[in-house]
Amino acid sequence: MKLIIDTDAGVDDAHALMMALACPDAQVECITTVVGNIDLENVVRNVGTVLDVMDVDVPFYRGAHLPLVAPWRFETEFVHGSDGLGDLRQRPPARHFPADGHAVTQIIERSAAAPGEITLVAIGPLTNVALALRLDPDLPKRLKRLVVMGGSLHAVGNTDIFPAEFNIYCDPEAAHMVFEAFTDILLVTWDATLANPLPTPVFEELTSQPGPRAALYRDSCEGMLKRLEEAGYEAEVLIPDTLTMAVTLRPGLIVASERHHVAVELRGSMSRGQTITDHRSWVRQTPNVECVTEVEIGGVADLFRQFVAPV
Ligand code: BDR
Ligand code: CA
Repeated sequence: MKLIIDTDAGVDDAHALMMALACPDAQVECITTVVGNIDLENVVRNVGTVLDVMDVDVPFYRGAHLPLVAPWRFETEFVHGSDGLGDLRQRPPARHFPADGHAVTQIIERSAAAPGEITLVAIGPLTNVALALRLDPDLPKRLKRLVVMGGSLHAVGNTDIFPAEFNIYCDPEAAHMVFEAFTDILLVTWDATLANPLPTPVFEELTSQPGPRAALYRDSCEGMLKRLEEAGYEAEVLIPDTLTMAVTLRPGLIVASERHHVAVELRGSMSRGQTITDHRSWVRQTPNVECVTEVEIGGVADLFRQFVAPV
């Protein structure tokens, strides 16, 4: 399976990258970066750190440093730390650096070189994907599939505009363009994330493993879980981007999914960035997404075990 991973790394993005890089039947063609959880320079740095720790060479590229129209600056430190990777202590100097070239042109050129073969996994705001679409409207025809972490089916969001999920809210115009252009997106929403947490005993098992991969996993989670606990949130291990990567790598883990037409609200004063789902096919528009609702979490846990295992 050939993948391009578009990421705003991000703690859970870093884990999703590790999951894909450790999967023997996944070939990560390149990683493209986008502003989101943290500024672009930190996203790029975090991808470099993941490649260092995984000890693999995959080209990665700088992408959009701002959303298309929306301003960018979010209070994400609470979840992702001030460096986007959980305030990692003792980070050695990076050994991996971004390649020359732009994320958006890489998405276009690599999909043109292998039509129908590449799955694009977008686990950040959809800015790069939207820019690629504007330069090349045939992109959807050439990708094997677009997989997106974003939105929510039932207006259960995780942003200040509470019905909106972060990745869509961060760049609603980009998301609108993507949902208009693609006809068969595999979508992992925030509701799916809430419904499919990683069981706590599995988390404890993973964080007690030896070696640098488990150390990066443990250290990047530590601050986030502490802050969430201090703020009185339920101590659940939510895994939006790793859940998305898991169903990409192993579609057989999808226990239940629903096909819907989904659009993005661009103007609502209380709902900008919310995904709007036609649950009953009322407007008779053809579904453009397959929304994952239930996942076989034991299989997801095995993919976590694979990437934290010492080598
Ligand atoms: C999404 O937003 C980010 O915080 C995560 O990395 C994930 O991609 C969840 O809403
Ligand atoms: Ca992300």
